[in-house]
Amino acid sequence: MLAFVTLSVLLAVTPTLAVWPVPRQYSTGATPLRLSPSFYISIKGLNSPPQDLQAAVTRTTTYLRNDKLQALVPDRGASSANAVRGAKALDSLSVSLTSTAKVRSISEEAVDDIEARVEGYTLTIPSDGSAATLTANSTLGLFRGLTTFGQLWYDLDGSTYTLQAPFNIVDSPAYPYRGLMLDTARNYFPVADIKRTLDAMSWINTLHWHVVDAQSFPLVVPGFTELSSTGAYSASQVYSTADVQDIVSYAAARGINVMAEIDTPGHTSVIARSHPEHIACFEASPWTQFANEPPAGQLRLASASTTNFTTSLLKAAAALFPSKTFSTGGDELNANCYNKDAATQADLAAQKKTLNQALDTFTQAIHKGLRDVGKRAVVWEEMVIDHPVTLANDTIALVWISSANAATVAQKGFKFIHAASDYFYLDCGGGGWVGQNPNGNSWCDPFKTWQKSYSFNPTANLTEAQKKLVLGGQHLLWTEQAGPTNLDSIVWPRAASAAEVFWSGPGGDIGKALPRLHDVSFRFVQRGVRAIPLQPLWCALRPGKCDLNA
Ligand SMILES: *[C@@H]1O[C@H](CO)[C@@H](O)[C@H](O)[C@H]1NC(C)=O
Ligand SMILES: *[C@@H]1O[C@H](CO)[C@@H](O)[C@H](O)[C@H]1NC(C)=O
Ligand SMILES: *[C@@H]1O[C@H](CO)[C@@H](O)[C@H](O)[C@H]1NC(C)=O
Ligand SMILES: *[C@@H]1O[C@H](CO)[C@@H](O)[C@H](O)[C@H]1NC(C)=O
Repeated sequence: MLAFVTLSVLLAVTPTLAVWPVPRQYSTGATPLRLSPSFYISIKGLNSPPQDLQAAVTRTTTYLRNDKLQALVPDRGASSANAVRGAKALDSLSVSLTSTAKVRSISEEAVDDIEARVEGYTLTIPSDGSAATLTANSTLGLFRGLTTFGQLWYDLDGSTYTLQAPFNIVDSPAYPYRGLMLDTARNYFPVADIKRTLDAMSWINTLHWHVVDAQSFPLVVPGFTELSSTGAYSASQVYSTADVQDIVSYAAARGINVMAEIDTPGHTSVIARSHPEHIACFEASPWTQFANEPPAGQLRLASASTTNFTTSLLKAAAALFPSKTFSTGGDELNANCYNKDAATQADLAAQKKTLNQALDTFTQAIHKGLRDVGKRAVVWEEMVIDHPVTLANDTIALVWISSANAATVAQKGFKFIHAASDYFYLDCGGGGWVGQNPNGNSWCDPFKTWQKSYSFNPTANLTEAQKKLVLGGQHLLWTEQAGPTNLDSIVWPRAASAAEVFWSGPGGDIGKALPRLHDVSFRFVQRGVRAIPLQPLWCALRPGKCDLNA
């Protein structure tokens, strides 16, 4: 019974393991076990454990004490009272690195290049009360293991217990990149909201921070502070260098890399407030002819001075982030904006270049600037599919317009991240937001349910060789209709769906996943995240009873 079996076989024969994402290999038993009142987690074999590992241990202990999550069964565990009272007590969890592992902090490992991260762990919890053990080859792996350990327990009248000991878990992610994109330009989010989101992202390893856009420029960039002082919604709706360091270090200590994006050359209208010389078609009307959403405005990509300005800006912004990757965007370029811009037309004529040739020069220059400061460029799919620009072979593409475009990006040979609007956009289905349009829909209707995201197949339509180009995937929140007041409800628990697809691997059964998603969602709520119900509580307590065919 305790032998390891593969995921698909196992889900059919063992009770639900209330862990999200489901470990890639595990076995459970049927023995009750409770945490001793003096339960502790010790770090073994390290003279001076990294401070962030110690903090993760402290946080895990606090969660174990404070979660107080009742089992999701109709009597909330009451009928197990005798079993819990008579259960053996677990005194400790012993955490250690394998003997060959190099000791580095979670924060250092979190910002390693995507393919270099080591996140696997082995967790063993015997049923007889003897010490549980967690081992990994990296502190990042230990952190992931602590996250799993923290999800195994329920509360009954003050006892923290499980009915499923022993546990044997051997886990590691299917894909190295599991992200969440947050747009802080359409609407601003205070640092506290971003930190709460980072806390909930325990298995997502990248915050793709779409920090600025056409509407506002909240990022304070050293040497370019005029952009935020004229471009933020207000003097307080900015991310100072101290705020950025706070977010970056908070994320890193939780195994999360912050991959920032300054979208170019489109989506840059707001830059004109301090640098009108660099922006074409600034707030041109009607906006529908000049941009995909208001306000219009694009960097004058054919201008040597604008190219130099953009390169310097990106280098200064990238220096705020330890991430090895930085996104230069590149989506939704509007040709009409440049066709109508006299300055750009003069530059193109003087250089005898087409718009695409100028885009190539511009892109090569800004990417060289990033490479010079040790950053690998990330771009939206149009830069690979639609424009004949020269990209370094390590450039990463974000597939967003349609999941079907993944195969096209793969044919070009670039590594890529699944971020497709038809599976992972959290903002779809909210109705139209442009004014005076009573019948408007969001462009990516309908609403993307967690079930839809969960059904995603990352390697659909790819050849064996192309499958290796998939780095992972992410949910995305564009915030035209989101702000601090609905952040949690629009993101959680839906965004957990991609995290399981890209950690555990695709092909999971939606019916089997639902009880676990309920579990992690209620645990979020206990930890202060306002995740929304997926079903009436009646259904959450009775797995399967609300299925259409039940
Ligand atoms: C550590 O790495 C080795 C070699 O890659 C692997 O066999 C082992 O399973 C890893 N250990 C853990 C605890 O993940
Ligand atoms: C390039 O931009 C930087 C920063 O804005 C500026 O200091 C420098 O003078 C510019 N160089 C040229 C050749 O325009
Ligand atoms: C990518 O380009 C670099 C430098 O141009 C080269 O050394 C490397 O071999 C290339 N890698 C692949 C996988 O083509
Ligand atoms: C795969 O190809 C089929 C047939 O062309 C298409 O219907 C489907 O949407 C594609 N899926 C993805 C994820 O590209």
